[in-house]
Amino acid sequence: MTKFTVNDRPIQYRMDPETPLLWALRDASNLTGTKYGCGTGDCGACIVDIDGQSVRSCRISIAACEGRFVTTIEALSTDRSHPVQQAWVAENLPQCGYCQSGLIMAAAVLLKRNPHPTDEQIDGALTNLCRCGTQPRWRAAIRRAEK
Ligand code: FES
Repeated sequence: MTKFTVNDRPIQYRMDPETPLLWALRDASNLTGTKYGCGTGDCGACIVDIDGQSVRSCRISIAACEGRFVTTIEALSTDRSHPVQQAWVAENLPQCGYCQSGLIMAAAVLLKRNPHPTDEQIDGALTNLCRCGTQPRWRAAIRRAEK
């Protein structure tokens, strides 16, 4: 049994300890906001916050999450949208939307760690892939969210 905290709730997973976190979240916890894109750590659709770090959940086992604190897109905001989500809407950023939860989580982690990142720091933190081509709007949305 593997135990860690997901969205402020202690969870015990009775799964193979080598199960990727992505599948534990989606299949066992029904937290389907975290998306599967590639499964190889390239696209970033599966990014969650683990102890304040941006982590691709397809590439970390639940065993490696033991005792840690995981936050998914479902818990990013409670009573109102997170500033990053508000900025995403204001900048009309998403197109198909599939990869956006991972991108929003990466942006939220960046701004939590660095409230006023440089363009280079934004580019370094947001390494997600978006096949719709929304990349030109990422910096503007981050700039709006940091206000
Ligand atoms: Fe994890 Fe693409 S699904 S990086």
